[in-house]
Amino acid sequence: MQEPTAGNLYADLSGYYDGFCHEVDYAEQGDFLRRAFDCLAESTGKDYLDLACGTGQLLQQMHQHGFAVAGLDNSPQMLEATARRCPSAALMLCDLASFDGPGRFDLISCFLYSIHYSHPVAALTETVNRAFQALKPGGVFLFDLVDKNGINNRDAVTRLERDHARFTFRSGWRYDGCSESMVLQVAIRREDANGVQDWEDRHRMTAITIAQVNELMRDAGFVITLLERDFARLREWEGDSFNVIMAGRKP
Ligand SMILES: C[S@@+](CC[C@H](N)C(=O)[O-])C[C@H]1O[C@@H](n2cnc3c(N)ncnc32)[C@H](O)[C@@H]1O
Repeated sequence: MQEPTAGNLYADLSGYYDGFCHEVDYAEQGDFLRRAFDCLAESTGKDYLDLACGTGQLLQQMHQHGFAVAGLDNSPQMLEATARRCPSAALMLCDLASFDGPGRFDLISCFLYSIHYSHPVAALTETVNRAFQALKPGGVFLFDLVDKNGINNRDAVTRLERDHARFTFRSGWRYDGCSESMVLQVAIRREDANGVQDWEDRHRMTAITIAQVNELMRDAGFVITLLERDFARLREWEGDSFNVIMAGRKP
């Protein structure tokens, strides 16, 4: 059997990204974000920034909800896809830990666990501080995260038929149980009449606990609400699951 080819999901393989995420319900995420904003924010504007915006699927939803949208990502290929999907979006090509824009936004998000790309913990701290600076007073920052103690080292698998080919997408975190790094392993298999192609990719991400992130958000100045990671319902975290949505309001 042939070895998988190394590829980068956010560069040479970016054309497969939307297929990879075909089971993510961005309309539901957009509804959730709008409701969370209505409940938690005290600023009245509609300036919105999505950190690690990928191909702009959430930006498109928030644009439809009447927000003026901006997206940040460090991949030119992902931003090109965003520009095609959401031409009105203002785009920033930069790292999560190095964006500027003091007091510009009412709402900032970072979903699909992308906050963990701020690696190591010092970079994640910088990202949180920059989000605080970038918000207007009363604005909110929302992101989802997984507690490192809840990493089960198992893969999620989805399948899709498209363009006369069958795709199998796999992803899963690997955590050694002690460091501040974990690895996201990603694999794509494409099968068609001509044969099988396999790619794989590995991303280093920050392994951290919910309590640690809570503390660094508080240190940055945020007033925090913890929510269940359930985009269908807006409800407070009950403390049992290892996945949360953290919402921080700038006083
Ligand atoms: C899992 S995707 C999520 C995209 C989007 N939020 C979504 O829900 O579809 C992660 C995104 O983060 C971007 N990314 C990874 N590391 C980054 C970093 N250090 N700074 C900025 N963007 C980063 C990737 O290019 C990719 O578009």
